[in-house]
Amino acid sequence: MTSSTQVSMFDLMMSLSMAMDIINPTLMNHHKQVAYLSHALALEYGLSDSERKNLVFAGSVHDIGALKLKERLELKNYMPENPHEHAEFGYRLLKTMEALSPEAELVRFHHVHWDKGQGLRFKGKDVPLGSHIIHLSDRISALIDPSRNILGQMKEIKNRIIEQKDKMFHPDLIDAFLSMSDKEYFWLDLTSNFIQDILSKELDFESLDQDNLLDLAKLFARIIDFRSPFTATHSSGLAAVSRGIAEYYGFPDHECLMMEIAGYLHDIGKLAVPAEILEKPEILTAEDIHIIRAHAYYTYRILGQIDGLKEVNEWASFHHERIDGKGYPFHIKGENLSVGSRILAVADVFTALTEERPYRDGLDEAKTMKIIKSMVKSGALDVNIVNLIDSKFEIINKSRAEAQESAWQLHREFHSYNN
Ligand SMILES: [Fe+2]
Ligand SMILES: [Fe+2]
Ligand SMILES: [Fe+2]
Repeated sequence: MTSSTQVSMFDLMMSLSMAMDIINPTLMNHHKQVAYLSHALALEYGLSDSERKNLVFAGSVHDIGALKLKERLELKNYMPENPHEHAEFGYRLLKTMEALSPEAELVRFHHVHWDKGQGLRFKGKDVPLGSHIIHLSDRISALIDPSRNILGQMKEIKNRIIEQKDKMFHPDLIDAFLSMSDKEYFWLDLTSNFIQDILSKELDFESLDQDNLLDLAKLFARIIDFRSPFTATHSSGLAAVSRGIAEYYGFPDHECLMMEIAGYLHDIGKLAVPAEILEKPEILTAEDIHIIRAHAYYTYRILGQIDGLKEVNEWASFHHERIDGKGYPFHIKGENLSVGSRILAVADVFTALTEERPYRDGLDEAKTMKIIKSMVKSGALDVNIVNLIDSKFEIINKSRAEAQESAWQLHREFHSYNN
């Protein structure tokens, strides 16, 4: 990415929504469907461009607070049990980025029932109309059976929704839905792979400036990491280490920033790995290991959807590649691995060894460097980068520890709130 390249907020939000729905085939496209439906209902209802943009963004990430696969699958039920906890957690995550505070509010109340107008308030707070729009959209999406043709389901979905008029759903929004629900194109759009393309043409989405891009990358890191205490601060630590190495290596300022961003995003493909596997106490099965190993591939394909992040993607996604070609998933070798990718690979090993995990403390300098140097000897890691990290160990490790400590703090706050 050159300093003038623009990155679209819409592309990033869509890529996140895609990443979250790879986790299980029954959830495929759920977030995009909710974004599509929310937009369509809002348009029919007469909401402004900026309200529709907020709804597209909120719809595309509304279930980010559902940390476990079990929770995500429970939400496929038309009337799920305890739906507000993930909505509150999602609100807390989104609220950490100021530019997304309207979306945070919409997500917070996206399971509140209309209940003859009682749903204007929830737990002493006003519920925005947009939350009711997402609620209806979410429930329509939950009713879709992906194994059957959608045109054969139009009538039954419509009936299930109408039954809940003034109960679960706002009556005016049901009317907006009914005015679209006889048109086949609406259902075909909804279950198609064209949603991103369709929405991109409906509204003018802005590009992110550098500060907002960095903020959004940090938010993504929290969404990726906070799903489990086993990964809770990994991307934050790795971002600090990658940036530190890039600075000492002599990367220009803009590229140092991009290396930090690559660090925050490098495990976005882990959203496809159930948290249940990430924190499994037993020995992982071969199947679990396959699912985990696919994460680097998914990072590459997901970030590959975003214009302007080609180089960041290569740095981020090749963090499990090794110079001897024995890494995964591309087996890129030697000269074909750029310095940025080599730095991310070293930073990943460094962070994994030095960071504190729920079941163990981080390793000290001697033990860390012994392992990393053995990986240079075996031909896996770059000798110059490892020498650099060896000579700056203390300072780089300190910035890692500080970044991870502040991420832990936020993680603790989120969980204490939930309990
Ligand atoms: Fe939800
Ligand atoms: Fe949902
Ligand atoms: Fe990884």
